[in-house]
Amino acid sequence: MSDAVPRRPARCEPEPPDADGLAGALLRWFDGRSRDVPWRGESDPYRIWVAEVMAQQTRIDTVRDYYGPFLERFPDVDSLAAAELDDVLKAWEGLGYYARARRLRAAAREIVSEYGSRLPEEPERLRSLPGIGAYTAGAIASLAFGLPEPAVDGNVRRVLSRLFDLAAPTPAALEGRARAILDIRPDRAADLNQALMDLGSSVCTPTSPACESCPAAGTCVALARGTVSERPPVRSRGPLPHRIVATAVVWRDGRVLITRRPAEGLLGGLWEFPGGKVEAGEAPPEAARRELAEELGVEIEVGEPLGTVEHAYSHFRITLHAYHARLLAGEPRPTAADALAWVRPRELADYAFPAANLRLIERLRDGACTPPSSFG
Ligand code: ADE
Repeated sequence: MSDAVPRRPARCEPEPPDADGLAGALLRWFDGRSRDVPWRGESDPYRIWVAEVMAQQTRIDTVRDYYGPFLERFPDVDSLAAAELDDVLKAWEGLGYYARARRLRAAAREIVSEYGSRLPEEPERLRSLPGIGAYTAGAIASLAFGLPEPAVDGNVRRVLSRLFDLAAPTPAALEGRARAILDIRPDRAADLNQALMDLGSSVCTPTSPACESCPAAGTCVALARGTVSERPPVRSRGPLPHRIVATAVVWRDGRVLITRRPAEGLLGGLWEFPGGKVEAGEAPPEAARRELAEELGVEIEVGEPLGTVEHAYSHFRITLHAYHARLLAGEPRPTAADALAWVRPRELADYAFPAANLRLIERLRDGACTPPSSFG
């Protein structure tokens, strides 16, 4: 009889994928598919940059609707640098995350003044420009200039975390894994980066990934270990903060009053109907009166409701109560806002508004854009 301690049966640990095999599998898969992103095959660095910034927090299907018109309006770095911020925001209206548009224009100005209107190739220089982080710099460097630079966005992070079964990888660790793959075929860095992105958005999706169609399933360590659904760990987000806001559509001589939000900060540079937060215990019409007194120095009469709109932005949700109103005393002066304008309802289409205000504008249009008779 043996007195040896019983040993656990040797577990067969999956081998991590090798960069060579992965690069080959990714390129074969990528070459055999035609995912139609609107900038596939594009070589102009400016156009690639615009696409990558638009795609940062937005689905490709949405980007498709904005990309062509934006480039028609601003065909090159110089036209974007010379544009009014209002015009850039108008072209961006509805895409959300408006800081991207402000920074895009700010970076265009820097590219004109510092780099003779040509995007720099070096990732460090790209990263020093407003709105260009590690991902976007890598995407531009590889797609536009053919450099073997990693471009790790959320999709690529998920793909690599699963392929190598990484529980909490640092950005540097992920870039290292990506770089090892690119180094196998530096001549095809752009395609390898895009293969990883496409794989993440179409196959290796956050929930219910299609592992049976994955070109790298045979070497995916998370698949072998049964940890796919835990990679990468889900960042838990609490419920969105809720803002209750009252706004006034102030009429004068067939025009309505709009104000522009300060350029920096939430929804910065966008126009809106004036108003503000409804305080605890306050009725929305009262809040509208108080806000216009505080922020524009005017006394208003609040009339009929225009309606209530609910909207979820990325960082908060809003309930917007809107009322027709007219001036009783004072001439509005923008103290909290950075500009104001009195515009005819049909001219509202020339200004960029946040989504919830656009819904109010639709209501104004449904009501044939006329003030209630008493506010004529
Ligand atoms: N998402 C963002 N950029 C992309 C690209 N270049 N290819 C595929 N998906 C993307």
